[in-house]
Amino acid sequence: MVDNDDSQLEARLPDQQYYRPPSKFVGQANVTDPAVYDRFEEFPEGFEEYAELLDWDSHWEEVLDDSNPPFFEWFTGGTLNASYNCIDRHLDERKNQTALLWEGEGGEQRNITYQDLYREVNKMAAALKEAGVTEDDVVTLHLPMLPALPITMLACARIGAPHSEVFAGFSAQALADRIDDADSDVVVTADGYYRRGDFLDHKEKADEACEAAEKDVDKVLVWERHEGELHPDAELVEGRDVLVSELLANNERARVDPVERDAEDPLFLMYTSGTTGQPKGCQHRTGGYLSYAAGTSKYVLDIKPEDTYWCAADIGWITGHTYIVYGPLALGTTSVMYEGTPDHPHKSRMWELAEKYDVDIFHTSPTAVRMFMKWGEEYLEGYDFDFRHMTTVGEPIQPEAWNWYYEHIGDEDAVIVDTWWQTETGGHLITNLPALDNMKPGSAGKPAPGIQPAIYDDNGDPIEPASGRAGNLVIERPWPGMLQTVYGDDERFINEYWRDFSDVDSDDPEDWVYKAGDGAVHAQDGYYRILGRLDDVMNVAGHRLGTMELESAVAEVPEVAEAAVVAREDTEKGEVPDVYVTLRDGVDRAGIEDKIVAAIEDDIGKFARPNAVVVVADLPKTRSGKIMRRLLENISNGDDLGDTTTLRDPSVPEDIRDQVQG
Ligand code: WTA
Repeated sequence: MVDNDDSQLEARLPDQQYYRPPSKFVGQANVTDPAVYDRFEEFPEGFEEYAELLDWDSHWEEVLDDSNPPFFEWFTGGTLNASYNCIDRHLDERKNQTALLWEGEGGEQRNITYQDLYREVNKMAAALKEAGVTEDDVVTLHLPMLPALPITMLACARIGAPHSEVFAGFSAQALADRIDDADSDVVVTADGYYRRGDFLDHKEKADEACEAAEKDVDKVLVWERHEGELHPDAELVEGRDVLVSELLANNERARVDPVERDAEDPLFLMYTSGTTGQPKGCQHRTGGYLSYAAGTSKYVLDIKPEDTYWCAADIGWITGHTYIVYGPLALGTTSVMYEGTPDHPHKSRMWELAEKYDVDIFHTSPTAVRMFMKWGEEYLEGYDFDFRHMTTVGEPIQPEAWNWYYEHIGDEDAVIVDTWWQTETGGHLITNLPALDNMKPGSAGKPAPGIQPAIYDDNGDPIEPASGRAGNLVIERPWPGMLQTVYGDDERFINEYWRDFSDVDSDDPEDWVYKAGDGAVHAQDGYYRILGRLDDVMNVAGHRLGTMELESAVAEVPEVAEAAVVAREDTEKGEVPDVYVTLRDGVDRAGIEDKIVAAIEDDIGKFARPNAVVVVADLPKTRSGKIMRRLLENISNGDDLGDTTTLRDPSVPEDIRDQVQG
């Protein structure tokens, strides 16, 4: 059971006012009939509405096979190909329409039409085969925000090889762990990409990862950021490394038939942080996932083929998989990709792009909104763009930031959807449908069609609906976008997501309840407000980081005796890690902070860099020797210590507090 003996479950926000969706928006929206909710209450048949958005090679026989919970199967007997659905089927109607609109950090532009994408993906599919990839091999990708990334994903999907993209900001060690876990023979990377004007050597991470991995990687395929011009620091390892450009040249006019995949065949893995040191490979299926991605892109994001849609996330995270690549392309729209950061070469970069491409729908994180708000509205001045729809995802958004987004970026005439979901859920689970429900700052809103959330107390009992009381957010019924399992570890899948609130000995699907790991409140108006993680997972700038992962990285520093990592609230990033350590007797203390920061950067990546490293004499512990992280969290956040009576030595946290708060 989750440990929430403190005040983190308190629902603190005062009630907010509602905003009606602008009538201009409602008049053109994809979903305007409230009966949609009733249709999806026909469970599970309601979800066929999403599956019907796709082209199937053979129709499904059963919508949901729930005979072996929690291994729910969707659209069983159906077959399809995701690459065909995102590309080939659009060619008749819109082969010359832009599918991907890519902008490099320095301003280069590539308009990749559906016809271009068809050609590129076919070539890459042939290239992968030439490199030895066969159906069902997991290919690990470590690609930055270049067209190479969606092209490689779709090429994998075309030949039925699940991809496992590792966010480019992850370190070599993190990549090695994921290569090993997925048992990938082939890794696809790029030589470099631009970050704030620097042309980074990215390939070195794949080189180090191959060294660090237990398994022998057969082939590393290397895309060049500037075709025909390898990064000056990149070296090719004889026999292992192959330039993608050479493989593509060998396959210039290749056509690779999309393989017919069973609805339940895996489409991809996406690793995410959990409560242990080892990240989990969330395995997503082909039919259910793609149906759910397309359905929610249409109903929640209001995407139409003629739109220019920009999700300013990185494809290396689930948001980019579902809402830059699979959902938007399945609907045949134009999806924008940007290589760089929002502040380079100037802080109006986003609005410059919004104007240049006349973006209709904009999708970003609360962290980004808080950053734009901090920079100030002057950076928006003079830019002419007009979003009709805006999204937030990944963290709770404070009403203050929501209001700023609404007023300054949306010009008070765009709808905002606050979408709650997870790597595991594949797509949105709690969010309003934009034309049907009023917006309420700070609340994700109603369940998406067909989704049945609830709030349970720590004993596993349901709290009355709309009670306004905080508790554990759970989902009581399966949905097509849900993960199939944790790759290679069904037991962990059950333990992490089901055991706490399910009767795991039962065959009755109704006894199986999915644990989200978040706290939430179901308010009287039926809206859900998400309070944040209840487990040892923090949310740093919208990126999930496990306390245990950070602590194991710190523990690798030889001088460290014990480590505890806690989340400090941060006005911009939401949360940032603070590291508390004790050192071994007699070691040299000099430079220890730098060593610890370096260990985290090496094990996980620079994006996980701690806010502070605090060397203490002792860590607060219970009489049974358990570290009380909650007390450290209170210290980091300047809160009262609270009850310290269960401690072995109550003076320990007081000493730390004096040390930290001076
Ligand atoms: C948090 C990102 C509040 C939550 C799609 C969840 C949110 C975790 C929201 C999943 C939201 C996501 N409001 N919190 N709208 N959306 N979260 O796997 O804690 O990177 O459990 O998926 O982000 O993060 P993940």
